[in-house]
Order: sequence, then structure tokens, then C-alpha cells
Amino acid sequence: SAAEKAGYKHFMQKEIFEQPRTVADTISGFSSQINEDLYNTVVNADRIYIIACGTSYHAGLVGKFWIEKFAKIPVEVDYASEYRYRDKIINDKTVIIGISQSGETADTRFALIDAQKEGAKTIGIVNVVGSSLSREADYTLYTYCGPEIGVAATKTFTAQLIVLLLFALELGLKKNTITKDLYEDLQQKILSIPSKIEKILLKEKSIKDIAYKYMNASDFLFLGRNINYPIALEGALKLKEISYIHAEGYPAGEMKHGPIALIDDKLPVVALAPMDKFYEKMISNIQEVKARKGKLIAVATEGDENIKELVDDIIYIPKTEDELYPILTVVPLQLLSYHIATLLGKDVDQPRNLAKTVTVE
Ligand code: G6P
Repeated sequence: SAAEKAGYKHFMQKEIFEQPRTVADTISGFSSQINEDLYNTVVNADRIYIIACGTSYHAGLVGKFWIEKFAKIPVEVDYASEYRYRDKIINDKTVIIGISQSGETADTRFALIDAQKEGAKTIGIVNVVGSSLSREADYTLYTYCGPEIGVAATKTFTAQLIVLLLFALELGLKKNTITKDLYEDLQQKILSIPSKIEKILLKEKSIKDIAYKYMNASDFLFLGRNINYPIALEGALKLKEISYIHAEGYPAGEMKHGPIALIDDKLPVVALAPMDKFYEKMISNIQEVKARKGKLIAVATEGDENIKELVDDIIYIPKTEDELYPILTVVPLQLLSYHIATLLGKDVDQPRNLAKTVTVE
């Protein structure tokens, strides 16, 4: 009903706008869920597998960067429907993290159950309290988002990122693979993420104008590097899911090995170009797109004037630490796909052929 949407047109829009609160709630709810037993299990792990589907899989790809960087534990990320049917290499030092908003996705659940039978320790990152995965996993870490109604995941994605990031930092502190100073500094910066998301949400009107400009494109390319590469994948997935426009996410450095052939004056290219240590490399990729007359939409850091000459449209996000950018860069992409889909008259909360929770294998 309209009341449930609290003044928003769709649940998806409401859920995008809830993110300052759901991120803050997930930050404050994190520490009470961890215990010595869980930490000891993971600190002694020789390898972590992150298993998930859809948007949760993209959160896992970002989580890999954080766990490897801060805790120095090798991480592999796999689609649950692929991991399940592979020959698993598991011992009692293997930890499996299953990420699932619903906690009911069949492939993710059964991948964890199978690995558990072979001796792995399992952790669920789950939004729905009491869901199957939360009961089946050895440990559960919750995201605190409340119900997510829109089929396309938004607020649960940013909350999953928060859980993975805080977990990686705790592991790093415990393992001594990061300094106490870095740990404390990042904790401070994480506390400012909700207000930074708030600032991005204030740009909705200008993002809608960009959506209007490109809504008739038949394909989109999303480019990112390093920790923002999974966000390019997520941006493309969101657009496909709700607008039915074909979109691909690609690591910007890999563009020259294929997708560059697609670029012409009709192709919108969304470039994630925050001011991090990959900025110069991203700018080179942007120049390569421009030279082939692609239409460029950049997600860039406030204060970056230089990029204006290179791109057609810019969505500015606040400055943060390199490692924290994915939690910000995804927000404009959620709004961009939301507005393209609604301008096209699509049913964003109930896109065709998709289900919120997939309990078939
Ligand atoms: C479905 C939904 C996606 C979701 C995926 C995984 O495909 O439409 O939005 O990302 O399932 O769901 P889960 O509940 O396991 O995170």
C-alpha cells in the first residue's frame, strides 16, 4: 500500500533511501554478534570460500578484497550454483561464508550444508532473522535492514558490505595483520559513511536527468577497477533486472581484450572513477572510450574538476578512504537504474521473470 511506501513511489526507492539508517544499524549491531569461538575459527583458517548468488555474490567479491587486505587470508568467491557441483577441497581449516539476504536461496544453503558435512566451518551473512541459513550455519552475522520488499536488492547489499568490512578489520586486528592505528582510523571513517550516503541521495534529481538522457540506449557498459570492479558488475545487474536493458560490467583494464569493440557513439559507458590509487588508470580507460566516441557517465569524487573535460555526465560522491569507496559508488548506480526503469514504465518492484527469493535449485 501507499502507506507502507512512506511517501515513496516504489519499495525500491524507499529502500535505497533507507540506506543511511540500515548502514548505521548494521554498524552498531555488528560487534555484539561476534565471539571468541567464531574469531578463533576464522583466524586459524587457511582459506575462505565466499558462496552466494546474485547481488549477494557481488558483495562477496568486494569482501574478498577486504579479507585479503586486512586479514591476509586467501579468499575465493564463487556462485553457489557453481561451487556446489565442483570437486571441493575442504579440510578442518576451511571456512565457508554464505551470503544471503533471505537466507533461503536453495543453492547457497545446500552449498553450505554440503561443505559442512565435509568438515568446513560455516558462517552465514543473513538479513532475515531465523531463516534457514541462519539455523544451518555454524555462526550467523546479521545485516540490520528490516524487510527488503523490492526484488532488486539495494539496502541489503550495502549492509552486507558493512558486515564483511567490519569482520575483515576485526580479523586483521586479532591476527595483527593491521595496526591498531589503521583499525581505529578506519572505524572512524566507517561511522561517517551513512552521512556520505545521505549526500549522494540528495543528488537524486540530477541522476534522474542523466537517466532521462540515456533511457533509450539498448546496451550499457559499466567499468571499474580493483575494489570497485564488483560494483560495475552490480550496476550492470541492477540495470538488467529492472529496466531489461542489456548491460555488462567489466574490469576497466580488461576492456581492451573485448568490450572495446562494442564502443560507438550510441553506447553509454558508466565509469567508476573515484580518487583512489587507480584513478590515473581509470582516466586512461575513460580516454580510450572517449576516443571511440562512447558516451561517458562518471562516478567521481567531489572536487575532481579534471574529469569534467573528459566525460558527458558526472555524478559526484563524497571523498572517503580508498577501501571504503564501494559502499558509496554503488548508491548512484542504484538510483540510475531505478530511474531508467521507472521512466521506461517498468514495474521495478516486481520485474518480469524474477523472484525475490529463489528456492529452486
Ligand atoms: C534473487 C533476487 C536477487 C538476489 C538473489 C540472491 O535472484 O532477485 O535480488 O540478489 O536472489 O538472494 P539472497 O536472498 O540469497 O541474497
